[in-house]
Amino acid sequence: MGLISILFTRGFIFIFLHSVYGDLSYTVPEETKHQYVIGHLAKDLGIDGKRLSARKARVETEDSAKRYCDINLSSGNLVVAETIDREKICGSRISCIVNYELVLENPLEVHRISLQIEDVNDNSPVFPNDRISFEITESADKGERFPLEEAHDLDIGRNAVQGYSLEKNEHFILSVHENADGGKSATLVLEKELDREKQKDMNLILTAFDGGNPPKSGTAVIHVTVLDANDNIPVFSQPVYRVSLAENTALGTEVITVSATDADEGANGEVTYELSRLSDHSEKIFSLDKITGKITVSANIDYEDEKYFEMRVQAKDGPGLVSSSKIIIDITDINDNEPRIILKSLNDPIPENSVAGTEVAIINVQDKDSGDNRHVHCHIQQDVPFKLSPSIKNYFSLITTSMLDREKESDYNITITATDGGSPPLSTSMTIHLSVSDVNDNPPVFEQQSYTAYVMENNKPGTSISSVTARDPDWRQNGTVLYSLVPSEINGLPVSSFLSINSDTGVIQAVRSFDYEKFRNFKVQVVARDNGSPPLSSNVTVSVFISDENDNSPQILYPAPEGKSLMTEMVPKAALSGSLVSKVIAVDADSGQNAWLSYQIVKSTDPGLFIIGLHSGEIGCSEGHY
Ligand SMILES: *[C@@H]1O[C@H](CO)[C@@H](O)[C@H](O)[C@H]1NC(C)=O
Ligand SMILES: *[C@@H]1O[C@H](CO)[C@@H](O)[C@H](O)[C@H]1NC(C)=O
Ligand SMILES: *[C@@H]1O[C@H](CO)[C@@H](O)[C@H](O)[C@H]1NC(C)=O
Ligand SMILES: *[C@@H]1O[C@H](CO)[C@@H](O)[C@H](O)[C@H]1NC(C)=O
Repeated sequence: MGLISILFTRGFIFIFLHSVYGDLSYTVPEETKHQYVIGHLAKDLGIDGKRLSARKARVETEDSAKRYCDINLSSGNLVVAETIDREKICGSRISCIVNYELVLENPLEVHRISLQIEDVNDNSPVFPNDRISFEITESADKGERFPLEEAHDLDIGRNAVQGYSLEKNEHFILSVHENADGGKSATLVLEKELDREKQKDMNLILTAFDGGNPPKSGTAVIHVTVLDANDNIPVFSQPVYRVSLAENTALGTEVITVSATDADEGANGEVTYELSRLSDHSEKIFSLDKITGKITVSANIDYEDEKYFEMRVQAKDGPGLVSSSKIIIDITDINDNEPRIILKSLNDPIPENSVAGTEVAIINVQDKDSGDNRHVHCHIQQDVPFKLSPSIKNYFSLITTSMLDREKESDYNITITATDGGSPPLSTSMTIHLSVSDVNDNPPVFEQQSYTAYVMENNKPGTSISSVTARDPDWRQNGTVLYSLVPSEINGLPVSSFLSINSDTGVIQAVRSFDYEKFRNFKVQVVARDNGSPPLSSNVTVSVFISDENDNSPQILYPAPEGKSLMTEMVPKAALSGSLVSKVIAVDADSGQNAWLSYQIVKSTDPGLFIIGLHSGEIGCSEGHY
């Protein structure tokens, strides 16, 4: 080898050769085009360019390797035969030299040609993957490091990777350092803690740049997935759930749905619910869907039993972080209890002469509901002489409003209805049966104002001559009528010697036989008396009329029947026909027709001489009496 002075300038190496027979050395940048002049070969060899052709100058390769240069025989220059890719030939080797042989004939000369291939920044840094994925839990601490894959640049030296930069972001910075082999690599450093609940993933652009002029760069996307840490507890939508629920709500009805959210992900954020701190009783009444948080009614709710429920509900996430909230269920009353009427006392029977305002019964009304549903008012349905008088605390007195009259109405069915103030109202009825007891307040009353009896004289003693009847509407003995005669005298004799009365039936009988000719009528007083105590009575007059019977014969008063059986009357001879001779006078003790008399001549010595008046009893001369 001859003397070589090498001058480094920026990017180019010039080598000057001074030995004719020595080797030729050239520097050529890669990527130059066909015919690019590498060097003035003829001149460097010190021969006329035109001779090259005559000496059959040619470039030969060893081992039939590829020949990247050639000789332009007309210009005498060494030129690029085919574009050279340094990286293809030498890879990452710093020095890239290809050797050829220059062969000349006549005389044979062989020169070694070394082509130093110079790097050109024709390659950009490239990441092995253009997408770099990391999964980092949100609990990762500040300063935690995440090494990144190195970017490669096929170029060498300054044209290789010189550094990295990271897109500006909130959480990560980049730390770049030199490897043992001189390469540069980067590490992602957590600068500010992650919060998955704020941002669950991010894309950061990582750039690798080389030192070329101009520099080239390559990028990759760092995709960071923030993994959840169970760093959130479930949070209820309300600290207290308060709800009103009517009693008797149908089973299965939703009471309320509680809801808690957990900002974590997956199982860390999956919330299940559970009731706690509830009595055995309320445990039966309410059921909670563990998953949905829906609380439903599972047994009948009775306001009268329990007016209020309080319990706690717990929300738990997968790993078991827990929070709780309170549930208050106020039960509202429904008018589901009808009023109850309780008879506390009863005065039965009640005497009919009780004064208005007499207390008959005491009742009490109750209703298990509350408020208006409990407010009960009572009334009596029928038109009866009773009313309810309110007393203290749902007590009522049943009192009379007027005097009663057993003889008109002997018993009452008093229906009391109690109605509450619900909507719709409920009511109950109770019937009190009340009897009116008797008081002897009615005297017997005769059916007629007076009675008249007719009796034939000569009657048999014991004959019934009449009957009186009196009525008394009172009860039993107070209404039992007894008859009697009012003591008096008739013609100086006690009335009892004339008449008797059956005290039970009122039938009046004659005690003796009456004689019309002695007296024709008389009056008696009959008393009807009830059996009350004291008794009440009334009287009536019975007039007795005795009828005549033809029990007396006429009696001739004139001529006197005693002694002489003959009556002598002197009649003048010349007495005129029709002149009165005498008169027969007779009487009859009977009356009426029984006392009507008629006369007849029974026997005469000289019939036809005298006549007698049929009714007058006058005896006169007949015609022809001379
Ligand atoms: C060789 O060089 C001459 C002169 O510079 C030029 O005119 C010619 O085109 C070149 N030949 C080839 C094959 O490029
Ligand atoms: C009262 O009710 C009873 C039994 O239903 C019945 O026998 C009676 O006649 C009723 N009395 C009145 C006054 O309605
Ligand atoms: C008859 O009336 C009296 C009161 O005048 C009364 O005490 C008595 O109980 C009544 N008798 C009957 C059977 O009702
Ligand atoms: C008969 O009744 C009248 C009128 O009611 C009364 O004045 C009289 O005293 C009564 N007589 C007797 C004997 O009861």
